[in-house]
Amino acid sequence: MYKLVLIRHGESTWNLENRFTGWTDVELTATGVAQARTAGELLKEAGYEFDVAYTSVLKRAIWTLWHCLDTMDRTWLPIVNDWRLNERHYGGLQGLNKADMAKEYGDEQVLIWRRSYDTPPPALEADDPRGQRHDLRYARLDPAQIPLTECLKDTVARVLPCWNEVLAPAIRSGQRIVVAAHGNSIRALVKYLDNIGDADIVGVNIPNGIPLVYELDADLKPIKSYYLGDAEAAARAAAAVAAQGKKA
Ligand code: 3PG
Repeated sequence: MYKLVLIRHGESTWNLENRFTGWTDVELTATGVAQARTAGELLKEAGYEFDVAYTSVLKRAIWTLWHCLDTMDRTWLPIVNDWRLNERHYGGLQGLNKADMAKEYGDEQVLIWRRSYDTPPPALEADDPRGQRHDLRYARLDPAQIPLTECLKDTVARVLPCWNEVLAPAIRSGQRIVVAAHGNSIRALVKYLDNIGDADIVGVNIPNGIPLVYELDADLKPIKSYYLGDAEAAARAAAAVAAQGKKA
């Protein structure tokens, strides 16, 4: 049996301000740092060891991983940054307040933008300064790979190759891995691993900074999955994420 640990980054400045973030590279708040360190404590107390860690190229996930590994006294572990673990690109919504958008367009529309499987938010213009086409960290990508918006289906289409080419082979080779990523890149993985249908994935929300453990069989099929620590607190935190898109 294998174990896979997934962690959504701790609270970011734009989580706190309730703004659509996507590929915008925002910092953790003090609460986010504390959540990341608590995640490290939980993993340490439960005796987890890792051989390699994976994260995105966005600093809220990178810092989360660093704080978590620091708490475990494992800062020496190798870390692989893969852009395919980035948050879902939120297109023209990036920077806007989720509750304000619900007031303007209604809860239903915001739920579609946030959670529908195949309806993307409005796209950014290619030259929008909020876009990433001139961001050095993506310089080696084909411009067509740098999204102007994404629905979850688009995110699945880039996260799955990362799973198939990088994460799954590492697990199969016996490496114990931790992945620090984002609400929707983790939803993409969860959808695939748990074989969740396009309609049901709408109801799945990932809380910040709580390790999500998957126990996998020899074929990397889930045997069970659970949040480390207080399960009720994790459920409350997931419900709070769901509520972020409602009118204040
Ligand atoms: C964002 O990009 O705004 C968040 O990190 C995830 O947002 P969501 O829960 O609204 O999809």
